[in-house]
Amino acid sequence: MKIIEIEGAKELTGTIRVSGAKNATVALIPAAILTDEEATICNVPEITDTEALVDILKLLNVKVSRASESIVINPQEMINTEITEPYSKKLRASYYFMGALLGKYKKAVMYFPGGCSIGARPIDLHLKGFEALGATITSDKNKYIVEAEELHGANIYLDIASVGATINIMLAAVKAKGTTIIDNAAKEPEIVNVATFLNNMGAKITGAGTSSIKIEGVDKLHKCFHEVIPDRIEAGTYLIIGALCGKNLKIDNVITEHIDSLLSKLEEVGVKLEIGRDYITVLDHERKYKTTNIKTATYPGFPTDLQQPFTVLLTQANGKSKITETIWENRFMHVPYLKLLGADIEVKNQTATIIGPTELKGAEVVATDLRAGAAMVAAGLIASGKTTITNVEHILRGYEQIIEKLSDVGAKITLKEI
Ligand code: UD1
Repeated sequence: MKIIEIEGAKELTGTIRVSGAKNATVALIPAAILTDEEATICNVPEITDTEALVDILKLLNVKVSRASESIVINPQEMINTEITEPYSKKLRASYYFMGALLGKYKKAVMYFPGGCSIGARPIDLHLKGFEALGATITSDKNKYIVEAEELHGANIYLDIASVGATINIMLAAVKAKGTTIIDNAAKEPEIVNVATFLNNMGAKITGAGTSSIKIEGVDKLHKCFHEVIPDRIEAGTYLIIGALCGKNLKIDNVITEHIDSLLSKLEEVGVKLEIGRDYITVLDHERKYKTTNIKTATYPGFPTDLQQPFTVLLTQANGKSKITETIWENRFMHVPYLKLLGADIEVKNQTATIIGPTELKGAEVVATDLRAGAAMVAAGLIASGKTTITNVEHILRGYEQIIEKLSDVGAKITLKEI
């Protein structure tokens, strides 16, 4: 079992470089099988979610080679075989193989995906989209067989602006006959990154980043070279850590407009930032913070994935703050552990009320999911004494070299195998 130990209450100073975006990478890797040639993707983060997807590629007899931050994917000898349950369940994003295999072979056989337990996480919108494109779906318990004689363009309205459904339908539609329109599409930057990748391979997608995406089907996709965008959630996590214990902590390789909603909340509570072209520095200042109220929303609203780390910052604000979660019904599992560290938080329905400032003291806590884990790290960094985090596999799924990055700026943090 792996654990993280943190000796808290140290000031962090220096530069943290943000890696490639997890949520873009996990869609780009499955998307790469749509080419008939070879795809090279660079700025790929070394996280366990990437490894799990590479394992699926290998299961499908796809040639994969990695050199530093690049990955070369060659599906020329690929075999469309069933993605068995252990592979499907390793991560949420395995479901992107459903859209990609359907788009390429008109057939995908796999199981319900895994991922963090932050809500029911159904895939009904993905399946409805595939059906609209002409696929039939047979499901037996957790197993899904999605197949079509022919895929044709369709007008699809998503009941919820789902990131996963938007990308998955795009993957299935790129080689369909005719034109597909996805309305009420999600607008997250990762969707734009995936659409750009597919267009680099010869797809005809317009409107990605807006709520209406148009996909004109093409017959073939060719070779391409592509770069993963910087991870806005990783950047946001380190900015929040900077606000908690940074002293001129520079977060480098950031597309600042991707985190506008976070930046305005940080500024509202009193965090002093220097915002550069591709970096943001949390300036050295007295950490006296004001309260705020936050409601998570789809992009460009405040990201649900930063709600948990931001809660830690609000434990240090003077007075009562509220965070309302609107995307996931089970995303307050970090709260009992923050309380164990000394925070004053009550959750009612989908709203957490946080009263600060509270002194946090080290304790044994659990990373119940990926971003809850990030919240535990943030809390451990300001808590006095030692914080031990278990279930850290969740954290390692999404944060590349988190131990090294934080150690380099002065944190006393170690990953141990026990
Ligand atoms: C993605 C992100 C995740 C982030 C989330 C919301 C990845 C790999 N993960 O997750 O980090 O928290 O977006 O920004 O990119 N829904 C349905 N039916 C469906 C699909 C979704 O009801 O078929 C609901 C979900 O239960 C949830 C909401 O729609 O309440 C949003 O989910 P979605 O945008 O699909 O999230 P993911 O793509 O799973």
